[in-house]
Amino acid sequence: MEKRKQIILTGDRPTGKLHLGHYIGSLLNRVEMQNSGDYDSFIMIADQQALTDNARDPEKIKNSLLQVALDYLSVGIDPKKSTIFVQSQIAALAELNLYYLNLVTVSRLERNPTVKAEIQQKNFERSIPAGFFTYPVSQTADITAFKADLVPVGDDQEPMIEQAREIVRSFNSIYGKEVLVEPKGVFPPKGRGRLPGLDGNAKMSKSLGNAIYLSDDADTLKKKIMSMYTDPKHIHVEDPGRIEGNMVFTYLDVFDDDKAKVAELKEQYQAGGLGDVKIKRYLNEVLEAKLAPIRKKRAEFESDIPGVYRMLKEGSARANEVANQTLAEVRAAIGVNYFDEI
Ligand code: TRP
Repeated sequence: MEKRKQIILTGDRPTGKLHLGHYIGSLLNRVEMQNSGDYDSFIMIADQQALTDNARDPEKIKNSLLQVALDYLSVGIDPKKSTIFVQSQIAALAELNLYYLNLVTVSRLERNPTVKAEIQQKNFERSIPAGFFTYPVSQTADITAFKADLVPVGDDQEPMIEQAREIVRSFNSIYGKEVLVEPKGVFPPKGRGRLPGLDGNAKMSKSLGNAIYLSDDADTLKKKIMSMYTDPKHIHVEDPGRIEGNMVFTYLDVFDDDKAKVAELKEQYQAGGLGDVKIKRYLNEVLEAKLAPIRKKRAEFESDIPGVYRMLKEGSARANEVANQTLAEVRAAIGVNYFDEI
């Protein structure tokens, strides 16, 4: 028998457009894995998860859903090779979530460091929506519905994978069958981890207003680069400058394939005699070369929005087939398939 391809499941919350941090931290990796032909990839737009802390702003989620789909297509996620689908269209996920919720305790959920940090960041304190608090369980439904072996995600998602693995083990041991597959996280390679923001903040994020979006036009990109945090003590061109914590060099390290050139610029900057405007212009060239083709592809897809929705609908239909099959197995394992034989 031919060995089944490894299955990949990943996703993003549609709460805004995707930025360079997503690109380097996950999108590139997905495109590479997709193009290797070694995997069966499912990529989910997690609109229900986005609603867990945006229930009163569904319009934002709806708009972002389209933006994220365009972001995917423009970086080269190809619906012919990957199944792109929408979480809310897969009813089986909600039912799986319901069964899994019984397999975790509140105290276990409270120990999730990523959720803890998010609760703090959003100032929820005790008025945290229950759906938000339990989203790691719903995420387990997303992963297991597709029997995913691998879940490529950012480092902050490690606790979700751990939670999923625990639920899978509980489920399989309680219901006595190897129904669910224990997933493994795939984390970004070194140097492609978390991209800091334009302002030097540890994280690029929409809420911090320090992001470069994949959809930014050439002018916006240039303005943002010109505003980047460098070395505040590097005032005159001839002053020696610091490259540590200097965002221009951080970004060059990540995005410029010409490593020799970067090394040379670093040396000059540290010695003195290389101005911020000059290195910013150079970074602009490097990023423009990466983003221009992405922008061009986006414009093509933007000219056929109904086609984008059709693609999502077709992807969701395929995802439904797979998830419904898993749900049937889960129901049978628990024994709530009373009428199967009638
Ligand atoms: N929590 C993920 C994020 O914030 C999105 C997500 C939802 C996800 N369901 C998933 C990621 C399943 C991987 C697998 O980006």
